[in-house]
Amino acid sequence: MQSVTLIKGDGIGPSIMDVAVRVIEAAGAKIQWQEAEAGMGAFEKYGTPLPEATLESIEKTRVAFKGPLTTQVGSGFRSINVELRQRYDLYANVRPAKSWPGVKTRFENVDIVVVRENTEGLYCGLEHFLTRKHDIAESLAVVTRSASERIVEHAFQFARENNRKKVTVCHKANILKFTQGLFLEVAREVAQKHSDIQFDEKIIDASCMHMVMDPSQFDVIVCTNMFGDILSDLTAGLVGGLGLIPGANIGEDAALFEAVHGSAPDIAGKNLANPTAVLMAGVMMLKHLGQNDAAIKMQKAIEKVINEGKHVTPDLNPDSGCGTVEMGQAIIDALD
Ligand SMILES: NC(=O)c1ccc[n+]([C@@H]2O[C@H](COP(=O)([O-])OP(=O)(O)OC[C@H]3O[C@@H](n4cnc5c(N)ncnc54)[C@H](O)[C@@H]3O)[C@@H](O)[C@H]2O)c1
Repeated sequence: MQSVTLIKGDGIGPSIMDVAVRVIEAAGAKIQWQEAEAGMGAFEKYGTPLPEATLESIEKTRVAFKGPLTTQVGSGFRSINVELRQRYDLYANVRPAKSWPGVKTRFENVDIVVVRENTEGLYCGLEHFLTRKHDIAESLAVVTRSASERIVEHAFQFARENNRKKVTVCHKANILKFTQGLFLEVAREVAQKHSDIQFDEKIIDASCMHMVMDPSQFDVIVCTNMFGDILSDLTAGLVGGLGLIPGANIGEDAALFEAVHGSAPDIAGKNLANPTAVLMAGVMMLKHLGQNDAAIKMQKAIEKVINEGKHVTPDLNPDSGCGTVEMGQAIIDALD
């Protein structure tokens, strides 16, 4: 049995996480859940979005499985997602987007993994107003050689371990010559140590255009924090939407697994949320924990249900008459 901190989260979080826990257990995984709270729900209940008990649990388990957390736009507390990534130094955010044969999209063979630097860049929280009138604000982006080296190294190691052929660094070093320039310089240096894997570099705006015109030119992408956040939603759009994309946040001695999407307040409480993204995050977590049999069993069942396209949520098939709960049950029924 391995202990995992379970945070169900806000909005659609509890419904998709309940499904994920049921599927993970039905697949035969040996997990002892330690339930903890975070996000808007925790803030309303305890006056803090990140209670001490949650931190104590992660300190012990070093592995968390987390639903989406609501962060108010433009005001309120700082993102708990960013806080957890920085606190546990979860420096690599790995977000795979792969076409599903049963999900009709513009392209058929998309297979892109975004490896996003997760601890610094524009998300390090150095933001303030410069005037009392609050009419001038500034944000600082911090890019360090050490964090850049370890994320690019992670991208190349990931490529090697997963038989991928190419790593592309997406950057804006033409304009941001210091922060993005340093990241690109380090990427070029690290690439030289991995001459068996192809290396490419693209400016971020052109990357977006290339990606929607011909995604086959991308394999593994490495970039700084905000570009990775944006690009991974773009890759989600290429393969059928945010309900399908998982994310692993990996550090030296802790890891957190979640969906790429947010708490989707527009569909919360309606049994409409696609549980696939958190289920695939569960598959990534089981592989991380070395529980490969359960991971593969679960992945095959998810693929079967999605590719058949009958018992899936309305974002994948508006005529299915299925919701989150029914899709979860179909996946459990499809487990070998
Ligand atoms: N990792 C996280 O916890 C995380 C990530 C992104 C956003 N957020 C937070 O989530 C809140 C809402 O953000 P948002 O609306 O910009 O993004 P969102 O990802 O919650 O939703 C964007 C759109 O995608 C749809 N969608 C998302 N997940 C889906 C699913 N599983 N199945 C079907 N459709 C799905 C939503 O209905 C919505 O139309 C904000 O407070 C934001 O800060 C949290």
